[in-house]
Amino acid sequence: MKIQDQIKEYIANQPEPKRTDIKVLHKRILQILPKCRLWFLDGKDAKGKIVLPTWCDSHTHLVYAGNREQEFVDRINGLSYEEIANRGGGILNSAKKLNETSEEEIYNQSKLRLEEIMQQGTGAVEIKSGYGLTVEGELKMLRVIKRLKENYPIEIKATFLGAHAFPMEYKENHSAYIDLIINEMLPKIASENLADYIDAFLETGYFSVEETIKIMEAGKKYGLEPKIHVNQFTAIDGIKACVENGALSVDHLEIVTDEDIEVLKNSKTMPVALPSCSYFISIPYTPARKMMNAGLPLALATDYNPGTTPSGNMNFVVATACIKMKMTPEEAINAATINGAYAMGISETHGSITKGKKANLIITKPINSYYQLPYAFGTNLIDKVMIEGKFI
Ligand code: NIG
Ligand code: FE
Repeated sequence: MKIQDQIKEYIANQPEPKRTDIKVLHKRILQILPKCRLWFLDGKDAKGKIVLPTWCDSHTHLVYAGNREQEFVDRINGLSYEEIANRGGGILNSAKKLNETSEEEIYNQSKLRLEEIMQQGTGAVEIKSGYGLTVEGELKMLRVIKRLKENYPIEIKATFLGAHAFPMEYKENHSAYIDLIINEMLPKIASENLADYIDAFLETGYFSVEETIKIMEAGKKYGLEPKIHVNQFTAIDGIKACVENGALSVDHLEIVTDEDIEVLKNSKTMPVALPSCSYFISIPYTPARKMMNAGLPLALATDYNPGTTPSGNMNFVVATACIKMKMTPEEAINAATINGAYAMGISETHGSITKGKKANLIITKPINSYYQLPYAFGTNLIDKVMIEGKFI
């Protein structure tokens, strides 16, 4: 049978309303690419290539200055992430570098990371501030994110993370730094419309539950929904506070209690796991199976940042979720696409190949099935990436 007859027969066999939708879609595809062949139900074309929606990476810190390679080697030599942070390394190390670097230079460094993740199949990304920790530093980061939004076709959401760590001079005076965030940073950020979400590092030794509640409440007054770092190293009932404050997502979750799982059930809050972070700093993986068996959804993101995850590769995240967290390839791909889109508030337009959504596609090299994506971890199986209808 000729290919066009095969296509007609295939479409005729679909139930309504799918049949009408496919007809419309196929007509449009032929207008743009007259020689195009239909992608068949097994998901492969004649050469064995498959098509997927692009990744939605709902948690990154990819705007930063310099790197922290020395801390990487310090960890190899036996120091923990916590010990390095207590010596003035960690987030404060990146904050020092960021405040010493010009906005132009930060933009130039960050755009290379953005271009790299687009090539790796990411079609939407959330980027946080949080390495400024001063009014000027935080504004500088958010302006860089704004400039990236303006100059690249990829969907970008900006999150204000002034509450990432207490700067040295505020170590003994937390309330003064929280006042700075609430009374100086937030009004300026809101007046320049620089952020979509608000975040805080809710963790022992960083922001307490009460301090994070203050930050979330202040953010909400400016229309910024919370997306919170929580339960990375310890479980201190932070998830409950996030859910009660209407957080869109709670992220990290390397340590999760039964109570945390109960609180997340029937909430609108998406749990987000960051397996590359667990891999890189050797901490536990999010107990994905336990959470999903309890009926929770899960999103996967990279956490791309200079300290705990210097990688923005969502393909590696999907593979690691399968290999280390025992997620099936189907579960991991859904978690990295449609659930990631939810965790950054864009599921109406991104996260699946659906009529009315952005034409954001990954086209693979010839493969046996999509199982090969996590199976052949470390191999680049992406042939082409389309963002908003254009191959990049
Ligand atoms: O998500 N945990 C808090 N923030 C980052 C790491 C920050 C850093 O070490 O630079 C994270 O892992
Ligand atoms: Fe993070």
